[in-house]
Amino acid sequence: MTEMTPVTNATAVKTDAPKKMVLPDAQTVTSVRHWTDRLFSFRMTRPTSMRFRSGEFVMIGLMGDADPKTGKQKPLLRAYSIASPSWDEELEFYSIKVQDGPLTSRLQHIQPGDEIILRPKPVGTLVHDALLPGKRLWFFATGTGFAPFASLLREPQTYEDYDEIIITHTCREVGELAYGAELIEGLKSDELLAEVIGEGFWKKIKYYPTTTREQSPKMGRITDLMRSGEAFADLGTGPLDPATDRAMICGNLAFNLELKEMLESYGLEEGANSDPKQYVVEKAFLD
Ligand code: A2P
Repeated sequence: MTEMTPVTNATAVKTDAPKKMVLPDAQTVTSVRHWTDRLFSFRMTRPTSMRFRSGEFVMIGLMGDADPKTGKQKPLLRAYSIASPSWDEELEFYSIKVQDGPLTSRLQHIQPGDEIILRPKPVGTLVHDALLPGKRLWFFATGTGFAPFASLLREPQTYEDYDEIIITHTCREVGELAYGAELIEGLKSDELLAEVIGEGFWKKIKYYPTTTREQSPKMGRITDLMRSGEAFADLGTGPLDPATDRAMICGNLAFNLELKEMLESYGLEEGANSDPKQYVVEKAFLD
């Protein structure tokens, strides 16, 4: 998601306690993990009534500073992909830290027990419903664009609908791959998912991490590696085929546009919830 403007003007409700606010739609942070000086993930409570499809996003945020004239506060909200799967009793998010970003400069300091505003109205196109049936599913991510795939990689339907799942993740540095790498490794010992989907479900995954600014086993942008044929040779596939391959794209804007063009050149067409086709695209949240 690109940065979005707040969707509501709800003001905080004052309680008896001085300066203590009861936030509208507040949820409680349950855990926080810092992955690098630029990336962190956190989990929070989920409203019992909130339903969503794995891969969707919601608006979350904090109360903004008080207006100097009126003293009123407005919520500062941004679109965030939900990184946890639809069946998880908590919600997980994966975020960049921007030191002068309006929201993430503050959000990066949250602690368990803190409150976060959640507008529980999930939407999005990175959902299974927006794709026609296929054999192989590609997830293409850069940076925090991994988040919706963290959800979909833990979604049983992903494995029920496809024979093979290829996840590519391009980051600047090796440390930025850690959240995704750990999540994928964790699937191998996830007993709950093994019980629901079947033992060894994770063997359907091919993980293809690449870095562009720090040495790693596979260097380069995924787009360049596909253009040269190197990625397909490494993965043992041909270029994407509209008859069998489906794809979801989530990264920075330039990446989304470039990959979209490449997929179109292979003959894949962009789908939507109301008109499922061969690929879907979304922008990662950038503060
Ligand atoms: P690069 O280092 O060559 O710019 P960012 O942190 O700026 O969002 O970038 C995340 C990753 O996405 C980086 O590895 C970056 O590579 C890569 N990237 C940026 N633009 C593109 C693009 N148009 N196609 C492929 N990869 C891209």
